Amino acid sequence: MSHAAEPPLVEVQDLTVRFPRLAEDLAVVDGVSFSLTAGETLGLVGESGSGKTLIGRALLGHLPSTAIAGGEVRVAGVDVLRAPPRELAALHGRVTAAVFQDALVALNPSRTIQGHFDDVWAATGRPKDELRALARETLEMVALPDAPRVLACYPHELSGGMRQRALIALALLRRPAFLVADEPTTALDRLVEDELLTTLERLRTELGLTMLLISHDFDVIRRMCARVAVLYGGQLCEIGPTATVMAARLHPYTDGLVDAVSSLAERRRPLASIRGTVPAPSAFPPGCRFQTRCPRATDACGSVRPHLASDGRDAWCHHPLAAAGERSAVGG
Ligand SMILES: Nc1ncnc2c1ncn2[C@@H]1O[C@H](COP(=O)(O)OP(=O)(O)O)[C@@H](O)[C@H]1O
Ligand SMILES: [Mg+2]
Repeated sequence: MSHAAEPPLVEVQDLTVRFPRLAEDLAVVDGVSFSLTAGETLGLVGESGSGKTLIGRALLGHLPSTAIAGGEVRVAGVDVLRAPPRELAALHGRVTAAVFQDALVALNPSRTIQGHFDDVWAATGRPKDELRALARETLEMVALPDAPRVLACYPHELSGGMRQRALIALALLRRPAFLVADEPTTALDRLVEDELLTTLERLRTELGLTMLLISHDFDVIRRMCARVAVLYGGQLCEIGPTATVMAARLHPYTDGLVDAVSSLAERRRPLASIRGTVPAPSAFPPGCRFQTRCPRATDACGSVRPHLASDGRDAWCHHPLAAAGERSAVGG
């Protein structure tokens, strides 16, 4: 919840995404709500298949054409789920931008980096001579200093880390306010990932970026995000300040995810601290979708999930872990 008088830059209210060819009434994103104030980075974490990318795409107004979306998404006042394509196109690049996991997929293999910059610039309708200095400045910003050489390259001629930096430069060329970064460092090895995260941290400060950072890795979230939303099977498990969520976990799924990270760091327990794998969406149970893997599950979990709220924190669980005294149920 925003404490400022200004409305949040991004507001997601009860977002639901369905695919008609899946079992009827099955939402792969199920009633998700959150908001981002200007300048904030929110982490979105969960295992593969939990709906992170769909949420990221919904925020950009870029859901697959077969998806049916409900609820409301507002970015800088624009109702992106209902806005006409023209209005979305005007928003994209100027206000919103995206960086995805795999730059090789995102970039056109038969076009140089210069060609990609030309395409982004063409959408602005501004004179082309303005682009040169801006492209160089933006490449320097993402720590790609040798602009003429980088611009002349085809995507495959750059290293994975450089490609990802070029992709970020393209996204930031028009100085958008809001960036969706979907697993931006997942394809990179640890050292390159670390350097890129450092760059993202600097860019965020320099440009005052608001960011949704999507990752399956709690280590990345802990480093980059003051607040985190934990997603399982398309449902939010909990959301709140990252330090509090990690230290005093409420939802058993959060507990398992955080344990997986700390056991990796300590090399103590095996990574599989959550038993089993995410079931196919058609096998999701009613109520809490994590119940099939949850050590605390009871019959109650098959019913509507209770919403627990305490200052700045929300969780949805019948059997939360942390001290009960600080929580209050706010409806079921
Ligand atoms: N175009 C689509 N058609 C049908 N199902 C889809 C489509 N895109 C995604 N899904 C399903 O939605 C769920 C969430 O996908 P996704 O958002 O990509 O997860 P994540 O990014 O967390 O790995 C998955 O079960 C996936 O199979
Ligand atoms: Mg994804």
